[in-house]
Amino acid sequence: MKKYSVVIAGGGSTYTPGIVMMLLNSLDKFPLYEIKLYDNDAERQKIIGDALAIAIQEQNPEIRFNYTTSPEEAFTNVDFCMAHIRSGKYKMRELDEKIPLKHGVIGQETCGPGGIAYGMRSIGDIIELIDYMEKYSPHCWMLNYSNPAAIVAEACRVLRPNSKILNICDMPVGTLRRMSQIVGLTPQDLKIRYFGLNHFGWWTSVKDQKGNELLPQIRDYVSQYGYLTKIEVDTQHTDASWQETHKKAKDLLAVDPRFLPNTYLKYYLYPDYVVEHSNPEYTRANEVIDGREKRVFSAAKSIIEQKTAKGGEFHIDTHAYFIVDLARAIAYDTNERMLLIVENNGAIPNFSHDAMVEIPCLVGNSGAEPLNQGKIPTFQKGLMEQQVAVEKLVVEAWIEHSYQKMWQALTLSKTVPSATVAKALLDDLIIANQDYWPELK
Ligand code: NAD
Ligand code: LMR
Repeated sequence: MKKYSVVIAGGGSTYTPGIVMMLLNSLDKFPLYEIKLYDNDAERQKIIGDALAIAIQEQNPEIRFNYTTSPEEAFTNVDFCMAHIRSGKYKMRELDEKIPLKHGVIGQETCGPGGIAYGMRSIGDIIELIDYMEKYSPHCWMLNYSNPAAIVAEACRVLRPNSKILNICDMPVGTLRRMSQIVGLTPQDLKIRYFGLNHFGWWTSVKDQKGNELLPQIRDYVSQYGYLTKIEVDTQHTDASWQETHKKAKDLLAVDPRFLPNTYLKYYLYPDYVVEHSNPEYTRANEVIDGREKRVFSAAKSIIEQKTAKGGEFHIDTHAYFIVDLARAIAYDTNERMLLIVENNGAIPNFSHDAMVEIPCLVGNSGAEPLNQGKIPTFQKGLMEQQVAVEKLVVEAWIEHSYQKMWQALTLSKTVPSATVAKALLDDLIIANQDYWPELK
């Protein structure tokens, strides 16, 4: 059986230890020859890298491991690049969230002006990773889950249309785990239909293995409790702010009870509520810095100090198994059905063919084959047209260095009340992002 080589781009990410532990736990399904980490922040990556070196040496010494900031070393002889970079790191995430709130607009990592600002930072970095990959390992596939996935995916479509890159998001994976708990099954038991954009979609069907439609049962539950479950089954979206978000799904459902909503729709359907319930001095970035980042880096430091990982400081990120499933689908041509962000091309027949949509696809060794989801209703179509235009304008603005298009993108975002607010916001975001964005003219 072939053993695969993987490079994790964003080696210093808070998610890297959990993903590496998960890879080590999946070797029977996805055998590995080598794991490499790549980051452009040597100091941050060193902490995670040194701790993982100890953990891997103890657990699976036969697997080669190293970490580097050299693109050539990182991307030579690899079969898969798992990419989870954060352009500008938490320092910039904090500004993405706090600057809009000063203007009375939602401050969020991927939705609204925060997502737009983050998108403008990420496009160049992701294209750079693709180019390294293609230069040093032309056969390699990139499995990208760096945010903001919608804008990143559109940039890949426009700028690197023939590259081997699949864009995927964990939010539907986490919510499906919740749904499976609600109906007393496992996520693997459920077969879904879904349409939308990334962080902007709806489940139209959730069936069990026998073909029974479970959506009405899940809907009854969500209409009372949202996606809050009695037992916590989603290992990722668990902090206090996430519990609020899961609860809010109840109000998202009320707007169109036919379909089960993606939790991120709260930023588009209830932006006023979100602003009212935000603390402009302490946002999600602060919650992550004080929570996940502290936990992961303290665990790594403790492994390094003690020279052993046997204390169980690093945990398997069970929720990230979908990344192994995706790699397996390509490696073994499994044709597994997965939700991916792909070019529409008629899969939603009454929606723009060149929009990047999130829909179920069959995944095999030549990539993703999108499955037709049928025509979509006017309400969702209207919302999606508006949002996809925002995402396209951001990518055009990045390519053309266009101030005008960025202003249009912000004006068009459903989260921004007027062109006046959009302009004031843009001017603040330009100052904050001067080290990252192209200079706009
Ligand atoms: P993090 O800041 O802890 O880690 C990101 C790492 O990327 C940092 O070490 C940083 O130095 C590195 N980096 C930044 N720019 C880089 C570049 N150009 N080249 C190489 N490395 C670079 O962030 P995190 O909270 O662990 O999140 C990582 C990413 O994963 C984010 O984009 C986040 O939004 C995304 N994410 C995606 C999903 C999903 O399912 N789509 C889920 C969770 C997180
Ligand atoms: C993160 O985990 O930082 C994000 O990608 C999602 C969130 O929890 O805000």
